[in-house]
Parts: sequence; C-alpha cells; structure tokens
Amino acid sequence: MAATLEPATAAGALPPQIFGAEAERALRAADAVLLLACGTSYHAAMVARYWIEDIAGIPCSVEIASEYRYRRPAAAPGTLLVTISQSGETADTLAAQRYAVSRGLDAGLCICNVPESSLLRAADLRFLTRAGPEIGVASTKAFTTQLAALALLALALAKLKQRLPAEREQELLHDLRYLPAAMCRMLELEPRVAQWAETLAAREHALFLGRGVHYPIAMEGALKLKEISYVHAEAYAAGELKHGPLALVSRDMPVIAIAPGGALVDKISSNLSEVRARGGELYVLADRSVRIENADGIRVIKTPDCSDFVSPILQTIPLQLLAYHAAVARGNDVDKPRNLAKSVTVE
Ligand code: M6R
Repeated sequence: MAATLEPATAAGALPPQIFGAEAERALRAADAVLLLACGTSYHAAMVARYWIEDIAGIPCSVEIASEYRYRRPAAAPGTLLVTISQSGETADTLAAQRYAVSRGLDAGLCICNVPESSLLRAADLRFLTRAGPEIGVASTKAFTTQLAALALLALALAKLKQRLPAEREQELLHDLRYLPAAMCRMLELEPRVAQWAETLAAREHALFLGRGVHYPIAMEGALKLKEISYVHAEAYAAGELKHGPLALVSRDMPVIAIAPGGALVDKISSNLSEVRARGGELYVLADRSVRIENADGIRVIKTPDCSDFVSPILQTIPLQLLAYHAAVARGNDVDKPRNLAKSVTVE
C-alpha cells in the first residue's frame, strides 16, 4: 500500500501526472466517468463512484464489463473511460474497453497491477497499483490498492475541477499517508475475527449488510467468503432488508454488518435492530465511537476510528480475514479455490 501511494504522498500535493503525462488535460476535460471492471475490481469501481461523485462532483457510472460489452450504451462525449483490473488480461474487461472505444470514447485510463499487461497497453493513461505479484486466486491486496488508486483519482479530478481547496487536499492526503499504519492496526483484530470465522465456517449461508460506500465493501466481503470458504453469501444495501431479504433472517442466518461511524450510523443501527428482532445472529464491525455493544445474539468487533474517506479500505481487512479463516477452518485450499482461475482470459 505504501508503494501504491508513494507517487502521490511523496510530493506535498497531488500531481495529476501520476496517471500519465497527458492526464492533466484528460482529467480536466472529463464531464463524466465510466468505470468498467469484473469481480472484485468491479466492487472497487462501485466504491469509487461514491468518491468521484462526492469529492469531485462528476457523474460516474459503473458497469460490469461482461454486461457493458453486449448492450448498446449511449456513450456521452466527454466521458473519461477507466478500466480496473488486477491482471490486465481479463477478457471481458479488454473487450468492453475496445467496445467503448468503438462507440466513441477515448482509450482512457487503466488502473492495473501488472506492468505490460494488455489492458495497460490499450489505455492512453496508466496507473500501476504496485501491490506486488498476487498469487492466490482471491484478489486481496489487489483490491485495497485499487481502492487507494481510485481514491487518488477522485482527488485528482476534484482538484482539476476546482472542487478541492488546498486545506482539504492536505487533510485527505494525510489520511492516505497514514493508511499503511492504519491497516496494521486493523490486522491486529485477526484473533477476534478468527473466532467469528470458527462459527461461520459451520454455517452454509451468510448475509452481509452495509450502507453507502460500505455497501460495495459488504459485496466484496460476501464474494470473498463464497469464493474461498464456499459458504453461500449475499450482500445487500441494509436499507433493502425490508424489501425482501429480511424474510431469510432467522437463527440460522448469520448477518455480518459493517457499521462504521458517520452520517448513516443511526440508519444501520435500526436495520440491525430489525435483524435482531427476527432472531438473526449479528456479527458487527463498528467504529469505537459507535454505540453498538456485545449482547445476546450480537457480537461486535470495535474497529479503530478513522476518517470516513479511508474507512471502506480499512473495513475490507477484517472481511478478508474472515473469509480466510473460514476457509482454513473448512480445510480448503485458500490460494486455489475450486473451479476458479486467477486470470480469466476467456469468456
Ligand atoms: O484481474 P481482474 O481484476 O480483472 O480480475 C477480475 C475478476 O476475475 C477477479 O477480481 C475475481 O473476481 C477475483 N478472483 C475475486 O477475488
């Protein structure tokens, strides 16, 4: 993570050229952003949409590459195309990028972990996430570093659109500079997360809940759990509970909720009360400042307080650990889950 952030945090202010020599012009001209990706990289894109719209004030859409490539999208001129991929070889993302170009967009920016990959070569602008080789099939450090890269992109766009006062830029860069240390503090939660995993490993289903920018983090938590532990997991925006999934909640359906502080804390607390009232067993990740405590049927891990900006990156870590320990408890090969390949180079 330190290596990912280094090009930005080493300088006193954010240089847009970290995305390429021509980035300043391309980012300044962007009236909208289109993010294309698959799997975990798609979840990173979903988080980025919150940042780009909130911090830079630019409309941002996110599409699963395998869907985008087979529909007839109306490509708005002035849209900055951004592809996100760990491997840079995912067939659907490559095809979607080419398709977007054929429909009038510039080749755009690629955020990728593998130098010289096909997607990086196809783009006009590039950001290498520098996570190091990721051998295991499950994207983990690739995901958190993609988020960091996308956070930098949101800041660069905001700055070029005159939406980021210097003081705020310094504050947000400070949050990012502190991120590697904050991640180490999250890793200290591992023994307690491993205890949760012991129980979850004995279940066949789990429901993940989050709100706002933590909704895609809940989706990523569910993907990780199903991918390596083979526990069936689904994620919902917590506000959607009463529109259907609440019917699934019972003693046998563990519910894992991300409940950081911030504007939506009361909303998620009331969603959790709805789960508890139906006998659902809750596993809650909550900031220290949040008033949700251990009780009958409610297990809480208090996570270190952090800024709203970097919270989704930090909340990812206990969820990745949860999936890892659940998979180990089930005796699975964590690095090579069944039926999956690291790089999906065919359709
Ligand atoms: O290499 P990519 O980031 O383009 O790969 C996309 C997905 O295949 C990938 O993220 C997949 O979902 C991971 N195995 C999830 O851990």
